[in-house]
Amino acid sequence: MDTKKLTNEYLMQTYKKSDIAVRKAKGQYLWTENGKKYTDFFSGISVCNLGHCDKTVIAAIKKQLDCFLHISNLYYAKPQAELAKELALKSFGKGAKVFLANSGAEANEGAIKMARKYGKVNKSKSNKERFEIITFKNSFHGRTLATLSATGQEKFHKIITPLVDKFVYADFNDIDSVKKLINSNTVAVMIEPFQCEGGMIPAKKDFLKQLRQLCDKNDLLLIFDEVQCGMGRTGKLFAWQHYGVKPDIFTLAKSIANGLPLGAVISDKKTANLFVFGDHGSTFGGNPVACAAALAVLKQMTPKLLKEVSAKADYFVKKLNELKKKYPSVKEIRNIGLLIGVELDFTAKDIVEFCLNKGLIINSPKENVLRFLPPFVITKKDIDFAIKILGDALKCQTSKK
Ligand SMILES: Cc1ncc(COP(=O)(O)O)c(C=O)c1O
Repeated sequence: MDTKKLTNEYLMQTYKKSDIAVRKAKGQYLWTENGKKYTDFFSGISVCNLGHCDKTVIAAIKKQLDCFLHISNLYYAKPQAELAKELALKSFGKGAKVFLANSGAEANEGAIKMARKYGKVNKSKSNKERFEIITFKNSFHGRTLATLSATGQEKFHKIITPLVDKFVYADFNDIDSVKKLINSNTVAVMIEPFQCEGGMIPAKKDFLKQLRQLCDKNDLLLIFDEVQCGMGRTGKLFAWQHYGVKPDIFTLAKSIANGLPLGAVISDKKTANLFVFGDHGSTFGGNPVACAAALAVLKQMTPKLLKEVSAKADYFVKKLNELKKKYPSVKEIRNIGLLIGVELDFTAKDIVEFCLNKGLIINSPKENVLRFLPPFVITKKDIDFAIKILGDALKCQTSKK
């Protein structure tokens, strides 16, 4: 039976899908059931960062499949232990610890729970438990009740009210608005170093530095949500390394296993031993096959690869700037590495559709913003192809005005 028909009949209609059914994907390309080839500049929302079906990742998955799929977190499993070690040592160093989950929302839930526990153990000056977490307007932290409540966008709150209590929202890149929200109940600040779903907006370096100082001064945990911007996409393994600002806790998911579900909460020494037996858990969290895939991903995140990410981003952004000069409807190009947003002075939907028709997959997280998240394996030829289509789309749009 037809995939689209089956989907529409039996899957809950929570996603507005583009009109393609994928049969196969490899590297930066995918092919539909009716044989059309597409160049993928979206990577499944920054999941398949090493390209679809990366050969080393697939080999690691196959090797683990021959051993075991699942054991339970009640027993030891080498891929988990090795992955936790790699994540800890590549981020904070010895003394850091990791909790493994299945997704970005779950990783963030873990971080939120850690913050709440921190506030129980480290009380306010008047000896009261602390529980309030400052997040940011326009942020996105996931689809569970707590992570949606943490998300600073009203459109997501509408269907879930009443929200999980004690999240307050500051203005992104505005340190005074954070200061105003701090009180004796505050325990943490949670932020995306680069707001993605919120419209591709990078945090300012000074702002994150001031935020770090503010957290230190008030004994607040600084939590970075790197679910979309982490794992090499900025040209550094973790986005905070790009800023030179260390959080106390950060979360990863999406591309960590290049296509298998996995999330991670990575904690520096201060909170590494905060969770004790029974405080948190997940049956599937840190699935050994996903961990084996993630280890294969991390092995490939070499300085050489990360340099290539930056070089490819520079070339792409240079070409985008040429388009901006030609088409004034392109308002702004915002990027760190291959995390790229283009703000238009009109709705981006038509451009996304035009590109799809011409065989290029891009996306729009906000009404007037285009999002480009190409896999790291794209070539100069792929970028030229994308720029040509985008140019044609802008030309077509301009002639309509
Ligand atoms: C910054 C950020 N945090 C959390 C999430 C939620 O991740 P997941 O969909 O894996 O639960 C997303 C997903 O888009 C995200 O972009």
